[in-house]
Amino acid sequence: MLSISIIGTGNVAQHLFDELMSYPKSIKVDQVIGRNLKSLSYFKDKVETSSDYNNISHSDICIIAINDDAISSVSQQLKINNCLIVHTSGSKAMTLLDKHKRIGVFYPLQTFSKNRKVSFKTIPICIESAQEADLFVLQKLGKIISNKVVTITSKERKSLHLAAVFVNNFTNHVNHIAHEVCLENKVSYKLLHPLLLETIHKLEELSPLDAQTGPAKRDDQRTIEAQKNMLTKASHKKIYHTLSQSIKETYGEEL
Ligand SMILES: NC(=O)c1ccc[n+]([C@@H]2O[C@H](COP(=O)([O-])OP(=O)(O)OC[C@H]3O[C@@H](n4cnc5c(N)ncnc54)[C@H](OP(=O)(O)O)[C@@H]3O)[C@@H](O)[C@H]2O)c1
Repeated sequence: MLSISIIGTGNVAQHLFDELMSYPKSIKVDQVIGRNLKSLSYFKDKVETSSDYNNISHSDICIIAINDDAISSVSQQLKINNCLIVHTSGSKAMTLLDKHKRIGVFYPLQTFSKNRKVSFKTIPICIESAQEADLFVLQKLGKIISNKVVTITSKERKSLHLAAVFVNNFTNHVNHIAHEVCLENKVSYKLLHPLLLETIHKLEELSPLDAQTGPAKRDDQRTIEAQKNMLTKASHKKIYHTLSQSIKETYGEEL
């Protein structure tokens, strides 16, 4: 049985908590610690909760799932001995936790939003630890919830996270712009869903380089100018231009 404490009450903390709680024979969640009382209420009927970083349970693993920029200062405040302390960040080095003897990273490579359920079994869990024995503990935890546990360095994780920002964050933002274009022009965004799904599915067979289509790849300059002029926001015109430019450069043309 592995015992776990979670620091944080946001997207990742909630998803991890729900997932870990679903394996009561192999995992015991001791405590959730967070500064936000309203968010803590999500957990309080199911597990012990606290806002006191000085009063943390002696669990096998303490998972810090808070904003990247706060990991270092919160970890400095923790007074827990002989607990394996890990963070869940894709971009932050494990050494942020250096104040402690037993440290590591437990990064689930997926996008998490509250109220949107995900299946952990298919989520790659990227783990790292300073000591072999602790890596084994993280492997054990990872394998309970996922079929894909990979050991990678902080440097590799940082690169993966950069790529993930393009794959998820920027793709999602570009879809937000598409949604706005549809709203402004009173056409249905939902009609684009099959296109969006095929955009993703075809990458299972083709490389992104081979999958590209559209006016920028074809060098249809008049279409490109007309579409840029249809956009009402300057920031959207800039994104259209920059992405079209990048596509053209990739396929050997200058805009
Ligand atoms: N969301 C994802 O898709 C995703 C995926 C993989 C990994 N991650 C990583 O997981 C970590 C948490 O991300 P998240 O999406 O769960 O963030 P989130 O939903 O924004 O939640 C952040 C949590 O951190 C707390 N927090 C922020 N600043 C703090 C401070 N100075 N001291 C103490 N607590 C503080 C917040 O408390 P308040 O509510 O009081 O602000 C909240 O509980 C990050 O390292 C992120 O890189 C995120």
